[in-house]
Amino acid sequence: MTTFKRHRRLRNSATMRNLIRETELKVNDLVYPLFIVEGENIRNEVKSMPGVFQISLDYLNQEIEELLQLGIPSVLLFGIPKEKDEVGSGAYDENGIVQQAIRQIKSQTNDLLVIADTCLCEYTSHGHCGVIKDNDVDNDQSLPLHVKTAVTQAQAGADIIAPSNMMDGFVKEIREGLDEAGFTRIPVMSYAVKYASSFYGPFRDAADSTPQFGDRKTYQMDPANRLEALREAKSDIEEGADFLIVKPALSYMDIIREVKNQHPVPVVAYNVSGEYSMVKAASLNGWIDEKAVVLEKLTSMKRAGADIIITYFAKDVARWLQQ
Ligand code: PBG
Repeated sequence: MTTFKRHRRLRNSATMRNLIRETELKVNDLVYPLFIVEGENIRNEVKSMPGVFQISLDYLNQEIEELLQLGIPSVLLFGIPKEKDEVGSGAYDENGIVQQAIRQIKSQTNDLLVIADTCLCEYTSHGHCGVIKDNDVDNDQSLPLHVKTAVTQAQAGADIIAPSNMMDGFVKEIREGLDEAGFTRIPVMSYAVKYASSFYGPFRDAADSTPQFGDRKTYQMDPANRLEALREAKSDIEEGADFLIVKPALSYMDIIREVKNQHPVPVVAYNVSGEYSMVKAASLNGWIDEKAVVLEKLTSMKRAGADIIITYFAKDVARWLQQ
């Protein structure tokens, strides 16, 4: 009589393990973030993110060509303007850096989905994601600026609008603004569940978007909260979000799972800058096996419920999966 379960039967060989594998990472699931900087002949490696570069438009075509070669299906664009001001004008300028980049990519290829990050923090002199009133970001005055940003991005040819500003009502307002401008077919990928996380540190070097005073805790979420995440996801769905982003990913796997269980929409995990830099630093020191760790981490995000992963490792993963 068998008195215990023999789980190892299903792990006997690589072929058997392949047969029963439940989740698989695919290059089709990946989004690669790009930092486009105004100016010429710029290709700056971000100090805290080895392997990640800020590039000017003259380096963009070769970058896109590389992504196409690797089969990466989409990019997420961030802009770094020359001039910033109190109201983040560069974000909604028809000729802003991101709008230019979108047009340039679209004239190069139709095989890549261009996702535009819709936020003001890279464009405001104070580094916050909206306009400031009484030392805090004013929700309702900021909304029209986010709508203008989204509409100009769609006009430039963006395939998906990804608002990351965490103002209340941003999905509703942006959805309406897009519809009124004739972009009923452009989906909104909402940064629905975005925590006020210390894991964004290296990104703020990359995007030059560190708040000049205070922090983002009055608009981004407290890492201690779970129910609040479910409320945020629910209201964004009601307001018309087509995708839900959970951000960061690694410390928030439980949230990814719960959001996925509650909402039958594509869930996106944002494997953020700090999560990238930690792995890079350890692997540059020879302390971990970078490839194995990254593949394990990203596969775990899929197991947790992510359908799509935004990651600075996208190119490496595409190369590893090709091998
Ligand atoms: C803009 C934005 C941020 C990130 C994505 N969009 C920064 C922030 O909110 O401070 C962070 C991405 C990363 O850390 O990789 N609001």
